[in-house]
Amino acid sequence: MNTSVDGYRIIENARLDARNSFGVAARAPMLVEVTRAEALPELFAHAMPRGARPLILGGGSNILFAADPEGIVLALATQSIRRIGEIGEDTLVRAEAGAAWHDFVLWTLGHCLSGLENLALIPGTVGAAPIQNIGAYGVEVREHIHAVEAFDRSTGAFTRLAPDACAFAYRDSLFKQEPDRFVVTAVEFSLARAFTPRLHYAGLKEELAAMGITDAPRAPQVAEAVMRIRRRKLPDPAVLGNAGSFFKNPIVPASTAQALSLDHPDLPTYPSGDPTTSKLSAAWLIDRSGWKGRREGDAGIAPSHALVLVNHGTATGAQLLEVAHRVAADVEARFGIALQPEPRIVGARW
Ligand code: FAD
Ligand code: EPU
Repeated sequence: MNTSVDGYRIIENARLDARNSFGVAARAPMLVEVTRAEALPELFAHAMPRGARPLILGGGSNILFAADPEGIVLALATQSIRRIGEIGEDTLVRAEAGAAWHDFVLWTLGHCLSGLENLALIPGTVGAAPIQNIGAYGVEVREHIHAVEAFDRSTGAFTRLAPDACAFAYRDSLFKQEPDRFVVTAVEFSLARAFTPRLHYAGLKEELAAMGITDAPRAPQVAEAVMRIRRRKLPDPAVLGNAGSFFKNPIVPASTAQALSLDHPDLPTYPSGDPTTSKLSAAWLIDRSGWKGRREGDAGIAPSHALVLVNHGTATGAQLLEVAHRVAADVEARFGIALQPEPRIVGARW
């Protein structure tokens, strides 16, 4: 049964198969689709059971349903994007949570605003971008976030968080640490009117060169280069269900990285931002554990990238999780490194 109220609509016994990029079968007893963020206080105060802690769902591209969610699922369908001001050389843009991330990136480029071009083609919504501080090709979204607007369930009021209050870190934030406390309703971005390319990530300059661009690329060309690399490496969820990287790149004490590098000189290590630690390549660890392209029934690891857990057809979330556990166990046995999942796991503990 579907019910529409001003500002939201309720779908009972909602299928989530098309709402998660693994494409696993899942169902929610109730899905509430919010069409006006202003409806949230009334929705939480009166329309939901007291103390309800709904699971907030964006595009479902970083979530694994190992079981059906038990309670209400809340999704934001708000999508407007507008300029809200200027600070020095930057323009401030506000995008509502339900807007598709990649469409938003294209909108910024279409308006000659730069900063997000290296984050082109990441699936999902604007509202989810701050949750794990999305990052790719040498840029993290936190660098361009001016403020995060959210409804705070703990106070029942709207709030506006400056970046310093968001505890952003590699694939982490306050919002990921306290899941479902904040319903992100919009994100304000600070974007440059003058373009400074960020091309230090391995392969980016080479991709531009392959496009015939060796000097002073424009922001849309950098976005195009990023898209070309991504299409080559990462399976399209519409064809092969996946959630991008299933594991985070592990951050370990620098001494651990040095010891591993002695045994494995080709192990890629990256600066973590803290001189006492290093970031290792989870893809390399998984690849060298023999899992790349391996398949157990319909669950497996992508042939094109060792960090991508894939659903070849009708794998359940529990089967995908089982394979992920086996991959992590093999990496730990071989290298002594404990991998941690990147996506949110619903209905099971890691
Ligand atoms: P969901 O999967 O729906 O939710 C993810 C988390 O955010 C959940 O905890 C959810 O509860 C919470 N959430 C969602 N919306 C809100 C909201 N409005 N308020 C509060 N909480 C919310 N990620 C990267 O960082 N870099 C990449 O390069 C990258 N590449 C990817 C490539 C592929 C092919 C795929 C499938 C995924 C990739 N990802 C990448 C992961 C994913 O796209 C991002 O994490 C994205 O931000 C998830 O957005 P979503 O709307 O789908 O969120
Ligand atoms: N590698 C292998 N085998 C593989 C793939 C990669 O050994 O099958 C090694 C190679 O040495 C390669 C290195 O891993 O040079 C790094 O690979 P890649 O450039 O693809 O980056 P990644 O560390 O695997 C991270 C992010 C991606 C992001 C890319 C580009 C994490 C967990 N993943 O992947 O984000 O798009 O860098 O910046 O940090 C995501 O979070 O879902 C995601 C896709």
